[in-house]
Amino acid sequence: MSLKITTKLVEESKISSFDSENIVFGHVFTDHMFSCDFRNNEWQNFRLEPFDNISLSPTLSALHYGQAIFEGMKAVKNTDGVITLFRPLDNLARLNRSAKRMCMPSLPAEVFMEALQQLVVVDSAWIPTKEGSSLYIRPFMFATDDYLGVKPSESYRFMVYACPVSSYYSHALKVKVEEHYTRASAGGVGAAKCAGNYAASMYPTKLAQDEGFDQVLWTDGETHSYLEETGTSNVFVITDEAIYTPELSDSLLAGITRDSIIKLLRSQGKNVIETKVSVNDLVEWHNKGLVKEMFVSGTAATVTNIELFSYKGQSYKVNAIDNLLSTDIIKTFNQMKALVLPDPFNWVTVVKASELITP
Ligand code: COI
Repeated sequence: MSLKITTKLVEESKISSFDSENIVFGHVFTDHMFSCDFRNNEWQNFRLEPFDNISLSPTLSALHYGQAIFEGMKAVKNTDGVITLFRPLDNLARLNRSAKRMCMPSLPAEVFMEALQQLVVVDSAWIPTKEGSSLYIRPFMFATDDYLGVKPSESYRFMVYACPVSSYYSHALKVKVEEHYTRASAGGVGAAKCAGNYAASMYPTKLAQDEGFDQVLWTDGETHSYLEETGTSNVFVITDEAIYTPELSDSLLAGITRDSIIKLLRSQGKNVIETKVSVNDLVEWHNKGLVKEMFVSGTAATVTNIELFSYKGQSYKVNAIDNLLSTDIIKTFNQMKALVLPDPFNWVTVVKASELITP
């Protein structure tokens, strides 16, 4: 290990106030966080320190011009206490693709992996072991120049914090197929995991929630006739003949869970088709009774069924009841992560406790 990380650990852990039996997603954070800064064209000042507020200038470039990107990933601990990460280098690859699109610097693999390993090991007591729970990890990067004017920042911060979580969605979803608002357009930043994409989705999502839906199912910005994603997750439609998911483009996020599902199902001989999925086709499949199941996929969302979609004011119920593909997929991924099932794809990375730096 050649990265020099300055480490300051908490004097007393706050874990005794954490109720691992009743976890609400996104509200409790572990004891530590990782930070480093990009200055003079290099990443420097690597530090693992107590989780705390940070002091920033009101002129901070990220706050005004939106150079802010992030990732979402999870660590789990199996019954032997072994901690694993799932496809961490794929998260890094996506972070660096987002960085390129947002004119931000790329992050070296060594920094990313050390940050994850160190944080996960030092806060390993926080990894919940109850079924369906895990340690959500949030790596993120933002522009830190103090400057008024639109130009790429010259300085950035990369940070990682972690959060014990259970499921993001506690029930099957009712989604509204969006016909008016647009999350992302061709040539835009929809494929980047940047903060602005989430901001853009909030108002239409609120309108949909006011109508009783859980999420918006976004469609393409030009014609509103092809499915894209929900904004927190990718989407799959299972018919008697095939498993369909919208093909990747520059207006939807290349989910790592999406990719894992496609590869897993294809390895089982299933017919997974990445294509443009039109809303008209979806409605027609539904009307002919061909839709067996629909689900969304994401790190936070895991694999969550869609129980109803609405289009042009009409609701369509998806009667997925038993033998759910979603259940099989979740079980397989969980068992792979827990090292119970073999991992023919080399997706699972074991975190080595011995690699923790002591202060
Ligand atoms: C994730 O799935 O990790 C995400 O970043 C989505 C976010 C809405 C929690």
